[in-house]
Amino acid sequence: MNYKIACIPGDGIGPEIVEEAKKVLNTISSRYHHSFQYREVLLGGASIDAYGVPLAEDTTKAAKESDAVLMGSIGGDPKTSPWYRLEPDKRPEAGLLKIRKELNLFANLRPAYLYEELKGACPLKEAVIPNGFDMLIVRELTGGLYFGERSTTVKDKVETAMDTLVYNSNEIRRIAIRSFDIAMKRKKKVTSVDKANVLDSSRLWRKVVSEVSKDYPEVMLEHMLVDNCAMQIVHNPGQFDVVLTENMFGDILSDEASMVTGSIGMLASASLNETKFGLYEPSHGSAPDIAGEDIANPIATILSAAMMLRYSLDLDEAADTIEAAVKQVLASGYRTIDIMSEGMTQVGTRQMGDLIAKAVEA
Ligand code: IPM
Ligand code: MG
Repeated sequence: MNYKIACIPGDGIGPEIVEEAKKVLNTISSRYHHSFQYREVLLGGASIDAYGVPLAEDTTKAAKESDAVLMGSIGGDPKTSPWYRLEPDKRPEAGLLKIRKELNLFANLRPAYLYEELKGACPLKEAVIPNGFDMLIVRELTGGLYFGERSTTVKDKVETAMDTLVYNSNEIRRIAIRSFDIAMKRKKKVTSVDKANVLDSSRLWRKVVSEVSKDYPEVMLEHMLVDNCAMQIVHNPGQFDVVLTENMFGDILSDEASMVTGSIGMLASASLNETKFGLYEPSHGSAPDIAGEDIANPIATILSAAMMLRYSLDLDEAADTIEAAVKQVLASGYRTIDIMSEGMTQVGTRQMGDLIAKAVEA
């Protein structure tokens, strides 16, 4: 089969890590006789530099004409980059939010998984993670505070800023259904996270998620308040399977969960719409401070490409092959600097990509 992939290298380390993911995909294409046709487009800072806006129409169009989008990361250093002297809605992040909305990518899947080989990097005590953990955060991505009405005004000579958190039952239902469907393929547990002791939007969230759960009698549903969840992630992360939550809570909890794995450079993510289409990117940022030095860890992007094969292209076997290749390279002792430990062999971005591509070939 021939697949069309829109590629967004982005900013900072983005171009380097996407290059390695493409290297691995090209090996997949020769091993499994598929072909990937890439179309490179801009987003974020790179788009501001080229077109003066963080998301140009061309990029959305190219994405819509593709089977999936593979992205590096976007954004620069707010302290030094001129992109952050622009109005908030013209900055790199605004482009990312806009493309999420325009492509209707409401379901953001962020796995946080403890690699046996990297257990030493986990900041939690061994007693807290006797059996490791493997959770999938399902974050609603096109609603809530991120997309509610906002304003900054002066009222009675006092500057006043407002953001609004809105969800309707349809938005909650579709993300709940997606979470339960995914839980059926995992350990059949959904933890729905909200702040129902305070927020109306959370009370509606809880009601709709409970309704949806009736169609999934095999899946155990529990509701958890977000502050408690933040605590439980460091207290007993092994209790979680699928964690379903709204946009802002998901933003925060997914960073926390990724930190707990000790290796944010390893975590992939997928943002999906109602169809098979999705945008795949590493969970980490664009790390402008180490851009161009050949030291960034390309594994999160390579694993995002594996998620793309699985969720958008139905190439499960090829996805398994990439994931196994990553494990094999780690088991052989190769590490980028962010996951380096004593006795291991340190390699750069390109060499890590080469090693994984080679393991895919075999
Ligand atoms: C993320 C990021 C974005 C978000 C930023 C860059 C707007 O933190 O993907 O988690 O808050 O969604
Ligand atoms: Mg975030």
